[in-house]
Amino acid sequence: MGGVPRSTIAPGDRTSAGVNPYRPWPARITSIIDLTPQEKLFELRLIDEGARAAFDFDSGQFVELSIFGVGEAPISISSAPSKQGFIELCVRNAGDVTGALHRKQCGDVVGLRGPFGRGFPFEEMKGHDVLLVAGGLGIAPLKSLINHIHDDRHDFGNVTILYGARSPAEILFRYQFDGWKHRDDFDLILTVDHPDDTWEGDVGLVTRLFDKIEVDPANAFGAICGPPVMYKYVIAEMRKKDMDVDRIYVSFERRMKCGVGKCGHCGVGHQYTCIDGPVFNYWEAMNLQEAI
Ligand SMILES: Cc1cc2nc3c(=O)[nH]c(=O)nc-3n(C[C@H](O)[C@H](O)[C@H](O)COP(=O)(O)OP(=O)(O)OC[C@H]3O[C@@H](n4cnc5c(N)ncnc54)[C@H](O)[C@@H]3O)c2cc1C
Ligand code: FES
Repeated sequence: MGGVPRSTIAPGDRTSAGVNPYRPWPARITSIIDLTPQEKLFELRLIDEGARAAFDFDSGQFVELSIFGVGEAPISISSAPSKQGFIELCVRNAGDVTGALHRKQCGDVVGLRGPFGRGFPFEEMKGHDVLLVAGGLGIAPLKSLINHIHDDRHDFGNVTILYGARSPAEILFRYQFDGWKHRDDFDLILTVDHPDDTWEGDVGLVTRLFDKIEVDPANAFGAICGPPVMYKYVIAEMRKKDMDVDRIYVSFERRMKCGVGKCGHCGVGHQYTCIDGPVFNYWEAMNLQEAI
């Protein structure tokens, strides 16, 4: 079993303000970037200096974002832990909380609890090749891992990113990926289901890209995040490449409330995705798929 650290530490746990994982900490929105018509990238800074300095996380962890008077929603952290003092959240306008967030302006204040859950085993991945496979909004948590690897690039072998979106307009972080097209330290392949006249990249499901890549099965870690239907097929492709299942990790989403293993809303089988996940190793993921 992978040694993914479990962390449910709220900023409050590490400051003189005391331990209360249910307390949202005020955070100011310091930047908003429109990524697509449905998704925006928010940069947030905790207002309390002590809490901001103490905030530490692993790629793959999430926060509970609150809009006061509306509610809370779990959102993955998209920025890398190597960048301190702020976090980025890539948020789709999907309902009450995320809709209210989308109506906020720079300078407005929201609430944050966390970071929560288990992230990707970054330290274990060091010294290895990494194959990252994302579908749609699944790029949000993987972007944190990609940028963390980028900031520690010499510690990793080959890094391959396969990312599928429905259309070119729905590719998230396209400005970064377009800039990476000609880099030789990252193999990046983008694919879309529905190309437009300008699209020169691949067309089809992200699983089709496995024919284009070479994987050293004795060495590579896999990290997957996307719509639930994708997991089974991506894992099958990784197994066809003889990748070691002990090095395959997936990030799962379930409806959550407390984020700290108390309310039971996110239970699947005998596990709570908020504290046992959202990142699970292959064996755990197989059990979850049976339970879902
Ligand atoms: C660990 C984790 C990480 C996540 N990371 C991100 C991220 O990085 N970016 C992002 O945009 N989203 C992310 N999400 C998804 C996000 O939390 C959900 O979309 C959340 O529901 C949004 O809250 P909301 O109040 O805006 O939407 P809601 O009002 O909850 O509505 C969202 C959708 O769910 C439906 N819905 C509402 N209540 C129910 C119900 N009881 N049963 C079934 N369907 C219901 C609504 O009709 C709507 O289609 C993540 C979720 C998890 C668990
Ligand atoms: S969200 Fe409450 S137990 Fe997981």
